[in-house]
Amino acid sequence: MQLLRRNRILRQSPAIRSLVSETILTPSDFIVPLFIVEGEKIREEIPSMSNYFRMSLDVTVKEVKELWAMGLKCVLLFIKCKDELKDNKGTEALNPNGLMQRSIKAIKNACPEMVVMTDVALDPFSSFGHDGIVENGEIVNDPTVDVLAQMSVSHAQAGADFVAPSDMMDGRIVAIRTALEETGFTRTGIMSYSAKYASCFYGPFRDALDSAPGFGDKKTYQMDYANRTEALKETLMDVDEGADIVMVKPAMAYLDIIREVKDAVDVPVSAYHVSGEYAMIKAAAKMGWLNEDKAIIESLTSIKRAGADLIATYYAKDAVKLLG
Ligand code: PBG
Repeated sequence: MQLLRRNRILRQSPAIRSLVSETILTPSDFIVPLFIVEGEKIREEIPSMSNYFRMSLDVTVKEVKELWAMGLKCVLLFIKCKDELKDNKGTEALNPNGLMQRSIKAIKNACPEMVVMTDVALDPFSSFGHDGIVENGEIVNDPTVDVLAQMSVSHAQAGADFVAPSDMMDGRIVAIRTALEETGFTRTGIMSYSAKYASCFYGPFRDALDSAPGFGDKKTYQMDYANRTEALKETLMDVDEGADIVMVKPAMAYLDIIREVKDAVDVPVSAYHVSGEYAMIKAAAKMGWLNEDKAIIESLTSIKRAGADLIATYYAKDAVKLLG
């Protein structure tokens, strides 16, 4: 055969392959989600997320220092609220001495350069396990947005670098930006969960925080996974309303959406490689059916290739170790 183009020339050795590799993962691509619980010296494994832990604040602070030393630069905080503090309005979310606020302060104190992002949503604090206030069986938008704006200011007061609203209420980005401006928090950013789908892949996360919805599902606020143009509508609106970073969630079943969003916006795009995606790889690896290390790097590379500038993943530490 005489060919004019031989594509295998560029694949013939590891050195050549690395010269022409289009997508390279680095530690600063990752956002590390952390689950914080009350108490001391607690490091409890989440049953549906093997080798991932809920940690008390003292243990979390040590963990954050270790993450920073490894080159990881961003954490995303979730807290597990005690049952007795939950109510319909998420009152505890606004407590200036609440676990979230104490965690932000302690982490920024111990590791000031670490970028601290905070989850803004009512579900961990809601007696109904919903991301909004419930009235007559409905998740009401506008009263919820008021609480989310107050919650964001409270996180900013405690020292959060970015607030990350994960609720999917309408108009929350402009409400949060306005509230931050009015209170002088002009340097606090917003990472918006812009295209967040109603997904079964959040199951293990709801175990981690004991935050599963008590009735119904989240389909009246999270998006229908059949939809594509709606993701662009949601994301472009969030950018207009003041989102500094937008997010697509989950990641691997939504790579097409990540790419379209990346091509449509002029802000950084993040993707959340969610708990169920983590659990699937873990389970297959445990059975001996997949090589976990290879599955981690291939998954995360595909998410970055799709267009994610940042990836929130429970595999961040493993990935950094594997990238060596
Ligand atoms: C809720 C929230 C969820 C996740 C992040 N914030 C779950 C949900 O929407 O029910 C899921 C993250 C994951 O599965 O890893 N505000």
